[in-house]
Amino acid sequence: MASLFRKKSQKRVVFLASGRGSNFEACAVKIKDKTLSCEPVGLITDNAEAKAILIAKKYKIPTYIVDYKGFGNRSEFNSALANQLDELRPDLIVTVGFMKILPQEIVKTYKNRIINIHPSLLPAFPGINSQRQAIEYGAKISGCTVHFIDEGVDTGAIILQSPVTIESGMTESQLSLKILKEEHKILPKAIQYFLNDKIKIEGRKVRLIK
Ligand code: GAR
Repeated sequence: MASLFRKKSQKRVVFLASGRGSNFEACAVKIKDKTLSCEPVGLITDNAEAKAILIAKKYKIPTYIVDYKGFGNRSEFNSALANQLDELRPDLIVTVGFMKILPQEIVKTYKNRIINIHPSLLPAFPGINSQRQAIEYGAKISGCTVHFIDEGVDTGAIILQSPVTIESGMTESQLSLKILKEEHKILPKAIQYFLNDKIKIEGRKVRLIK
């Protein structure tokens, strides 16, 4: 009875990934060793070839493939994605390298319950290829950001950030790797704050309760 009760009180988390899934794995490891206490109810991917699927298998997290290629148009894909999410009844959605802009309908339904990891210090370098953007701009510092998803692209309230220095002559892949190591630290930390109800959203600002 006691364990049933404990499970019921855990927040249901759904991950959305399109590719490699290293951030997904950084979270899955912590869920497995119980340092992140939640119920990982599914990985949804828009790419049937995503390596993240293998990670989900490894950690026994159910996978749901909503393959973009299988739909006639964007709106059919959007509905299928929304239906799949609704079926899983998430308390929290975490986008980990999910390379589609989430439909407004989903953003509205799950307002303040969708977290994204982004490889730059927002609001600098939003969108795609952020590491390349930072190098080409000549930035000396970049990093990563965990933020809520709102109606814009990478504009939602910031939960955590971590900076990294860009050394002279650094390549895009070297910078990506350096940033990724920080992503793997701050994403589980931000999820932890959410799971423990330690995030207060005040306007566009996030206050973390220690
Ligand atoms: C990560 O660097 C993540 O920040 C980035 O994609 C990579 C996914 O890696 N996300 C974005 O650029 C979103 N705009 P992963 O699949 O190994 O976690």
